[in-house]
Amino acid sequence: MRKALSRVLIIGAGAAGRVVAKKCLKNPEIFTDIHVASRTFKRCEQLKEECNHKITIHELDADHVKDTVELIQKIQPKLVINMALPYQDLPIMDACLETHTHYMDTANYEPKNEAKFCYQWQWDYHDRFKDQGIMALLGSGFDPGVTNTFIKYASQELFDTIEHVDIIDCNDGDHGHPFATNFNPEINIREITQNGKYAENGKWKEIPAMSISKIINFPEVGPKKAYLLYHEELESLIKHFPSIKKIRFWMTFSDNYIQHLQVLQNIGMTSIQPVNFKGHQIVPLEFLKEVLPNPAEISTNYTGKTSIGCIITGLINGERKTKLIYNVCHHQDCHEEVQAQAVSYTTGVPAMIGAKMILNNQWKGHGVFNLEEFDARPFMKELNEQGLPWKVIDLDGPLDN
Ligand SMILES: NC(=O)c1ccc[n+]([C@@H]2O[C@H](COP(=O)([O-])OP(=O)(O)OC[C@H]3O[C@@H](n4cnc5c(N)ncnc54)[C@H](OP(=O)(O)O)[C@@H]3O)[C@@H](O)[C@H]2O)c1
Repeated sequence: MRKALSRVLIIGAGAAGRVVAKKCLKNPEIFTDIHVASRTFKRCEQLKEECNHKITIHELDADHVKDTVELIQKIQPKLVINMALPYQDLPIMDACLETHTHYMDTANYEPKNEAKFCYQWQWDYHDRFKDQGIMALLGSGFDPGVTNTFIKYASQELFDTIEHVDIIDCNDGDHGHPFATNFNPEINIREITQNGKYAENGKWKEIPAMSISKIINFPEVGPKKAYLLYHEELESLIKHFPSIKKIRFWMTFSDNYIQHLQVLQNIGMTSIQPVNFKGHQIVPLEFLKEVLPNPAEISTNYTGKTSIGCIITGLINGERKTKLIYNVCHHQDCHEEVQAQAVSYTTGVPAMIGAKMILNNQWKGHGVFNLEEFDARPFMKELNEQGLPWKVIDLDGPLDN
C-alpha cells in the first residue's frame, strides 16, 4: 500500500477515539482514508457501523511494538493518532520510529505500575524523531491541548508578557449515574488521587491530593467548587513560557463524586497494587474500571455543559491585565452530533484538529513537540469551525491566592 497523504491510523476505539474517527470523517478533504485499530475488535466493529462502514478496522494490542509495526507497515499511514491509554504512548512511539511515521496523542506517558505522569519520558525521544525526519505532537486534547494553544494564542495576540495562569475546568453536567468518570476510569482515578502540584517562582509546590479547593466563577456556569490538581500541561507550559511566575490547574468535582471516591479509596478499590483473588493476581483499580459505566456509553441522557478555560494575567503595553479564554460545550449537542458526551468530544475534536495541522503541513517539524511550540492561530480558527468555539473576556484581576 502506498503512503497516502491523508491516510491515518487511529489506535483506540474508546470514548474519545470514536469522536476522532467521526470528526475525521467530517473532514474528507484531509482524511480520505481512516483506519482504526483497537484491543477489543467488537468495539471497532461497533464504531464501523456507527461510521456507516466508511472506516477500515483492525484488532491490535499496541503494547506489542512488533504487532504495531506490522500493522503500520501494512497500512502505511502518514500519521498514527494514539487514542489508547497513556501506557501505550512509548510502545506506539517506538513503532512510529521504526516505520518513519508521524505520531500524535492526547495524554502523556504513564507507567502502569506507578501512578506518575511526566513529559520527560516522551521528550527524551526528541533526537530520535528528529533524526528520522518525523514529528510527534504530544497532548492534543482539550487539557492538555486546547489549553496549551490558548496560552500560545494569548502570547501571540493578547499579551506582551504572561505572568500568571490558572487553568479552570468545570463539568457542570449530569449523566444520571450514581458514580461515573468521563474518561477512562483507571486513568481518571490515578490522576485525581495523586498529590496536587503547581509552580510558583521557579519552584514546584506539592500538596496532598485534593487538599486545596476554591470557589471559582466559571463562565456561563457560575460559581463552583474546584480542586487544585497536578496536570501535565503545567510542565510543558512552564518550560515553554519562562515568564510565567505562577501556574495552577483547577477542576470541579461534585460532593457526590468526592464521597464515592473517598469510600473507594478507603476500601482499597483504587489501589494499583495487585492482590490475590482466587488464585489470580488482580489489580483492584483495573477491576473497578470494569464495573463502572463505560465513558463511551453515558451520553444518551447527559445534560448540562463543560466550561474550560485559562485565566491569564500579564502585561499589555506596560499595564497588568487579566483575561479569560474559554469554551463551553453542551453534552446533548455532542450526543446529537457524534453520540458522545462533552468530555470525549472536547478531547476528540482537538485531536482531529492536531492531526489536520500535521497533515496539511500547517504545523511541521522534526522531533517531539507540545502544541504551544506552534502557531496557535490556525488551530484556534479550526476550533471555531469544528464545534469548539471560544471567547475572550476581560476580568477584574487574577484568582486570589
Ligand atoms: N487531553 C485531554 O483533554 C484528554 C481528556 C480525556 C481523555 N484523554 C486521554 O484520551 C485517551 C483515551 O481516553 P478514553 O476516555 O477514550 O478511554 P477509553 O474509553 O478507555 O478508550 C481507550 C481505548 O483504547 C483501547 N486500548 C487500551 N489498551 C490498548 C492496547 N494495549 N492496544 C490497543 N488498544 C488499547 C481500549 O480498548 P478496550 O476496549 O479493549 O479497553 C479502548 O478502546 C486516554 O489516554 C486519556 O487519558 C485526554
